[in-house]
Amino acid sequence: MKHNIDSKGYYGKFGGAYIPEMLYPNVEELRQNYLKIMAEPSFKKEFDQLLKDYVGRPSPLYFAKRLSEKYNTKVYLKREDLNHTGAHKVNNTIGQILMAQRLGKTRIIAETGAGQHGVATATVCALMGMECIVYMGEIDIARQAPNVARMKMLGAEVRPALSGSRTLKDATNEAIRDWINNPIDTHYIIGSVVGPHPYPDMVARFQAIVSEEIKWQLLEKEGTEKPDYVVACVGGGSNAAGAFYHYLEDTDVKLIAVEAAGKGIHSGESAATSVLGREGIIHGSKTLLMQTKDGQITEPYSISAGLDYPGVGPMHAHLYTSGRAEFISITDDDAMIAGLELSKLEGIIPAIETSHSLAIFDKKTFKKEDVVVINLSGRGDKDLQNYIDYFKL
Ligand SMILES: Cc1ncc(COP(=O)(O)O)c(C=O)c1O
Repeated sequence: MKHNIDSKGYYGKFGGAYIPEMLYPNVEELRQNYLKIMAEPSFKKEFDQLLKDYVGRPSPLYFAKRLSEKYNTKVYLKREDLNHTGAHKVNNTIGQILMAQRLGKTRIIAETGAGQHGVATATVCALMGMECIVYMGEIDIARQAPNVARMKMLGAEVRPALSGSRTLKDATNEAIRDWINNPIDTHYIIGSVVGPHPYPDMVARFQAIVSEEIKWQLLEKEGTEKPDYVVACVGGGSNAAGAFYHYLEDTDVKLIAVEAAGKGIHSGESAATSVLGREGIIHGSKTLLMQTKDGQITEPYSISAGLDYPGVGPMHAHLYTSGRAEFISITDDDAMIAGLELSKLEGIIPAIETSHSLAIFDKKTFKKEDVVVINLSGRGDKDLQNYIDYFKL
């Protein structure tokens, strides 16, 4: 079975482009051009150069000695937290701003949950001198205040989304509305492997640098390109897509996707899409979606703003239903404890999103000789206040 996208924009039965007619010209323009543009030598050269000199790639693959000793297995951390702006999101925004320039666009819009994608978008807009508007749920604006301040300082306008759960889903709705109203000059930089085709594929390709690097870094350290496990947290799924990308068709490498169980999978306050979701359409793509019996989207919940999304990218919906990836759900409490543990054991304060993937060691036992690569998707600076409040530090 094939796990990556087919020529029609589907991962198995998931994906496609289910969009209002008024978005069609924008999405079609992108679909017709994205692969051609990405293959241009001048695009590749500029993308690689910026990833190296501006983002600071390659990000290290770090052997976490004390964490490995504690859980009696070999744990490597892929340090996306060390990227400029503090998370993996910037790999994608660098790619998309170059894409927008080549499509002749002058105005950028984006949605953001944790604010990492918003910051990464505001950053590349400052870099390229482009107008930038970021939509963000009102709740997320409150819980990710440092990132809101950063976006403003970088020259972006942050517009609050006031409907629904006032989180990521609602911010995405506002961004789509804006794009419909501004079809000619605007490019929408989607921040994850979600949205209508070609977004999930385009974002996955920009993030694929993560597994491209893991392969040669692991070869240097372990004499093989293949870990036994690759682990990543999943909101929409972009850091996981990047970490899995070059291993998708290699079933020797086991893939683990970690979702947010919030206050418990069946508590009514959760974002565990694979367990709770059914087939549906959200933001232009057919995927697994948390919804009521009559198809209304269920409001998601997670302590981490970046995992608080009722859907999941179509690649992940397919990885789940095909059984290619194992999905594990982690509660707020378990994630917070794991975040504090990494801070104390390794001197690395992770983003709360990332803390979810670090909590798997209490759910799953690995063999001593297993090589487990965890994608450390982001740093915890933006979450310090949340950690302080939670642990009463
Ligand atoms: C540090 C970090 N990790 C993970 C995520 C989840 O997004 P994705 O599933 O697209 O990687 C976010 C989203 O904001 C994030 O900031």
